[in-house]
Amino acid sequence: MAGINVGVLASGRGSNFEALVRATRKEAIDADIRLLIANVPGAPALDRAAALDVPALTVDHRQFRTRREFEQAVTAELDRHDIRLVCLAGFMRILSPWFTARWPNKVMNIHPSLLPAFAGLQGTRVHEAVIESGARVTGCTVHFVSDDLDGGPIIIQRAIAVRDDDTPESLSLRVLVEEHHAYPEAVKLYCDQKLEVSGRRVRRLE
Ligand code: GRF
Repeated sequence: MAGINVGVLASGRGSNFEALVRATRKEAIDADIRLLIANVPGAPALDRAAALDVPALTVDHRQFRTRREFEQAVTAELDRHDIRLVCLAGFMRILSPWFTARWPNKVMNIHPSLLPAFAGLQGTRVHEAVIESGARVTGCTVHFVSDDLDGGPIIIQRAIAVRDDDTPESLSLRVLVEEHHAYPEAVKLYCDQKLEVSGRRVRRLE
């Protein structure tokens, strides 16, 4: 289906990338996942792209002297593929104000907690912190990327209960299931032009 061209940036496993591809192919989402860019050579996300027949390439951040040069190379690839929306999916590089200004409210990220709680943490550390905190509820957040780390306007959140016997691993698995629903939902809202950003808030248009 021809729709808004979406590029995904990933560093690792790529399960959210795969969820996005499958959802856009199966559901009524006016988006076309056109490109995967990995910044880590050999990232498993690249194998998923090959299996799903999505064009993929590696832009290895270590090959660039500065963050700006890396981000310019990424942007050149995104432009070359006519990308209009960028989805970060387990992308482990912080993007500079140059990149966010170049793609204003056109970059989304998914974070495995209910932001603003547990911002700035990554991987299993998020779920460890949730359990240590005694929180009874956690979940995931899809947000636009701003210069404020994990602090951009929130598009969608999905919550789950924290169980007494949860471990960081069990929590991470249940949150991931929610992530795989939340990200396609957020992309659909964006593509249907149902999102209006006003300061830190995202309004849903009917
Ligand atoms: C997800 O938990 C996501 O929320 C976080 O990094 C993880 C990436 O997982 N930003 P995957 O690579 O999409 O499987």
